[in-house]
Amino acid sequence: MDGSVEVQLDPATVGAGALRQKNGVGALMNGDKSCDLVYCHSDGKNAMVAGPTGNGHAPVWTTTFAVLGGDRCTKCHGNSPQTAAHNAHQVGIHYDNIYNGTSGKLAAVNTGSSSHGVAGQSTTITCNTCHYKTITASGNDQNTLCKTCHTGPTHLQGNAAIADFSFHVNGRKEISFKPSLKVISKAQLRQTSFSNYSGLWVRNGGNYKNGVNAFDTAKTALTDTMWNSTAGNCSNISCHNLRVGETVNWTDTTISCQSCHSKL
Ligand code: HEC
Ligand code: HEC
Ligand code: HEC
Ligand code: HEC
Repeated sequence: MDGSVEVQLDPATVGAGALRQKNGVGALMNGDKSCDLVYCHSDGKNAMVAGPTGNGHAPVWTTTFAVLGGDRCTKCHGNSPQTAAHNAHQVGIHYDNIYNGTSGKLAAVNTGSSSHGVAGQSTTITCNTCHYKTITASGNDQNTLCKTCHTGPTHLQGNAAIADFSFHVNGRKEISFKPSLKVISKAQLRQTSFSNYSGLWVRNGGNYKNGVNAFDTAKTALTDTMWNSTAGNCSNISCHNLRVGETVNWTDTTISCQSCHSKL
C-alpha cells in the first residue's frame, strides 16, 4: 500500500527452481506495460532479446492475443517451431512422395488409397505425437504447412490447443509420445527390400501398393523411454528404421536417405 504497483521480473531476485530464474538478466516491464526478456513469452530455446520484436517480449498487459489476431500459438514460438528437427517431423512418413503402385503418387484424401487423411492408413505426425502431455489434439489448422490444405469449410480438423496447462510454460520441455501409438506408414518398400525392415514393420496382410489395405504398422509402440533428454536422442524409433541400440539425434543436420535406409 505504497501507492505504486511493484513488478519484479529480474531473475537474480529469486531462489533456485523458480520459473522467473529463466528470465533474461535485466528483464523488466516497460512504460507501456509490455515486458522484455521474460521466459514465459520466449520460444523456449533461443537467447532472449529486448525490444518489440525480440524473443521474450510480452504484449502490453491490457491487450489479448484475440485482439492481436492470427495464430495464438505463434505469439511466442513457431507453429511449427523452426528449431532443430521440428520442420522435418510434419504430417507423416514420406507423405508427399508416396508411389501409388501404378504411375504417379498418392494424393492426400479422406477416401480410398491415401497418402495422408485416413488415420488407419497413415499416422498423422504433429505436436501431439511427441508432446502428448501438453497437447492431445491431432488437428493443427493454423500451422503454416497444415493450413495449405486444411482450410474451411470442408477441410477443417481443428486448431492446436493446450490440453494441460501444468505442462506448458513450466520451464521444462516435456517429450511424451502419444500413448500406445504404433506408427502406420503408407510408404511401403518393395517386397524384395522389405525383408530388411520386417523386424520393425508388419505389412498388413502382406498387402503391397494395392489400395486401402496396403500399409505397414510399426511393431513397437512409442514409449517415453525412447527419448533421452540428457543425450537429446531417440532410440528404437521405427520411423527411422532404428534397430535396438541405434539412436538418432534431434539436432542432427546431416540426415540423409542412408540414415534410415540401408537398402531400397
Ligand atoms: C505466452 C507464450 C506462449 C504461447 C502463446 C504458446 N506457447 Fe507453447 N511454449 C511456450 C514456452 C516458453 C515453451 C517452452 C517449454 C516450457 O516452458 O513448457 C513452450 C512449449 C510448448 C510445447 C513443447 C512441450 C512443452 O510443454 O514443453 C508445445 C507442444 C507447445 N508449447 C504448444 C503450444 C501451442 C499448441 C500453443 C497455442 C495453443 C502455444 N504453445 C502457445 C510459450 C508459449
Ligand atoms: C497436402 C494437403 C494436406 C496437408 C499438407 C495436411 N493435410 Fe491433413 N488431411 C488432408 C486431407 C485431404 C484430409 C482428409 C480430410 C479432410 O479433407 O480434412 C486430411 C486429414 C487429416 C486428419 C484426419 C485424419 C487423421 O489422420 O486423423 C488430421 C488429424 C490431419 N489431416 C491433420 C493434419 C496436420 C496436423 C497437418 C500438418 C502437420 C496436415 N494434416 C497437413 C490434407 C492435408
Ligand atoms: C517428432 C517429435 C516432435 C514433434 C512432432 C514436435 N516436437 Fe516440439 N520438441 C521435440 C523435441 C525432441 C524437442 C527438444 C526437447 C529438448 O530440447 O529437451 C522439442 C522442443 C519443443 C519446444 C521447446 C523449444 C525448442 O524449440 O526446443 C517447443 C516450443 C515445441 N517443441 C513446440 C512444438 C510444437 C508447437 C509442435 C507442433 C507444431 C511440436 N513441437 C512438434 C519433438 C517434437
Ligand atoms: C527419417 C527416416 C527416413 C528418411 C530420412 C528417409 N526415409 Fe524412406 N522410408 C522411411 C520409412 C520408415 C519407410 C517405410 C518403410 C516400410 O514400412 O516399408 C520409408 C519408405 C520409403 C520408400 C517406399 C516409398 C513408397 O512409395 O511407398 C522409398 C522408395 C524410400 N523410403 C526412399 C527414400 C529415399 C530415396 C530417401 C532420401 C531422399 C528416404 N527414403 C529418406 C524412412 C525414411
